[in-house]
Amino acid sequence: MQNPAAITLKSPEETTDLAKKLGAVLQPGDVLLLEGAIGSGKTHFARSLIRSLMRKPEDVPSPTFTLVQVYETVIGEIWHSDLYRLSDISEVEELGLTDAFETAVCLVEWPEKLGPLTPPSALTFGFRTDLGDEDTRNLQIRWSDPKWQDRLEGLR
Ligand SMILES: Nc1ncnc2c1ncn2[C@@H]1O[C@H](COP(=O)(O)OP(=O)(O)O)[C@@H](O)[C@H]1O
Ligand SMILES: [Mg+2]
Repeated sequence: MQNPAAITLKSPEETTDLAKKLGAVLQPGDVLLLEGAIGSGKTHFARSLIRSLMRKPEDVPSPTFTLVQVYETVIGEIWHSDLYRLSDISEVEELGLTDAFETAVCLVEWPEKLGPLTPPSALTFGFRTDLGDEDTRNLQIRWSDPKWQDRLEGLR
């Protein structure tokens, strides 16, 4: 896959399919940054990914107010985080996220809030809605760690 790559997601179901495919190649220590405006599909993507890796179906609520939700899955812990309401960067450490970046799979909405704590090995997914069609999302995928190159083959 090219870096950056662009993918058009024409429905929530197409986004779910992509989330499942990415989930199948993730391993502990992987961090996925989910960028995009409110309603662009960050939580939909994260929820689909988490559900595809659960042993039995569980609710996956948006972590809007809790900031972090942790799930035990077939690939170990997945940390789903929404940093929109983060008030201070010191909270990132307090939430346990800094450690989780090393030991778990982390999915982070509003990653801009991480500032200098952004893991350099992260994979970034940017969701855009400005395509006219209500159910279409334009996704940009980019990374700097070469580990992603091979793993993302077959994602399309
Ligand atoms: N192609 C698509 N991909 C993802 N979500 C979509 C798509 N088309 C429509 N939607 C809808 O957009 C909304 C996205 O909401 P959500 O995932 O909570 O956004 P965010 O977490 O980015 O604020 C959901 O209601 C979802 O059903
Ligand atoms: Mg969200």
